[in-house]
Amino acid sequence: MPLALTPTVCSGDLVMLVGKDRRTFLRTVTPGESFQCHLGVIAFADLVGVSYGAQVPTHLGHKMFVLTPHTDDLIRHLQREGQIIFPKDLGYIALKLGIRPGVQVIEAGTGSGALTLTLAQLVGEDGHVFSYEQRERMQTRAIANLRRLGLLDRVTFHLHNIAEGFFEREAHALFLDVREPWLYLDQARAALRGGGFFGAILPTVNQVIALAERLYDGPWYFLEIEEIIRRAYKTIPERIRPDDQMVGHTGFLIFARAVEREERGERDEGEEFDPDGDLDADSPGEWASPAK
Ligand SMILES: C[S@@+](CC[C@H](N)C(=O)[O-])C[C@H]1O[C@@H](n2cnc3c(N)ncnc32)[C@H](O)[C@@H]1O
Repeated sequence: MPLALTPTVCSGDLVMLVGKDRRTFLRTVTPGESFQCHLGVIAFADLVGVSYGAQVPTHLGHKMFVLTPHTDDLIRHLQREGQIIFPKDLGYIALKLGIRPGVQVIEAGTGSGALTLTLAQLVGEDGHVFSYEQRERMQTRAIANLRRLGLLDRVTFHLHNIAEGFFEREAHALFLDVREPWLYLDQARAALRGGGFFGAILPTVNQVIALAERLYDGPWYFLEIEEIIRRAYKTIPERIRPDDQMVGHTGFLIFARAVEREERGERDEGEEFDPDGDLDADSPGEWASPAK
């Protein structure tokens, strides 16, 4: 992967250059070529060997920091088409799906690949992402995005309508970012291992209700419906306060675990799950205590 682990810039690294106006540029260090922006030109050969965090002058004398981009930067610079999942949601989705090195995870649709790249980074070299998309143009865009990050070998891209099912079985987790995810729950359950993690993102309450109805009555448990609201702050030390504008809504997040159960005829109100009010659970730290 071209994201550096070394303290100095190497040929082939994906770097982020930042000028005094905080505009950021992602480029692959390719000796023989050069970087150009409104602040001037920097030959890539001059970046090799420079310490990350240092400033490098352009031919016009403007200084630019050279940094390693993090996932948030990668997402913001993604070549995109259509709606992507926002970084604030991506991190939480990965946490709730239990994504870690070595796991096999399925997602649909691929879109521009924002979730794909997040998952591909987290599953590591021993894990794998299976990404489904029905529109070829979207898939081509996502493949280009992942190739640039050197993550292609961690992802299998399927050009396939998930209504016809998923090819994989016993997956650890599955995430749906499609308009009507409730139509594909049978296919999703067939692809997941017992206890596997299911998630979806939906923009409207109406869609959430449709999905919750189907999850509630099917082979799923621990249904959770959540929304993440992020407020950023102005960072000038003398007047730190919330930004004047914020993203008010991206999507609702729905999570459930794949289980074996009979279809339910009647709703059991007593099964409502409150993860913060689970009084019968271990007390904090109990699971990690030495056996009594
Ligand atoms: C909102 S975009 C996904 C964005 C993506 N999660 C990201 O973060 O970049 C939804 C995508 O799902 C695809 N899609 C919708 N229904 C599908 C289906 N039944 N099978 C496969 N792909 C589907 C659409 O073509 C579209 O590209």
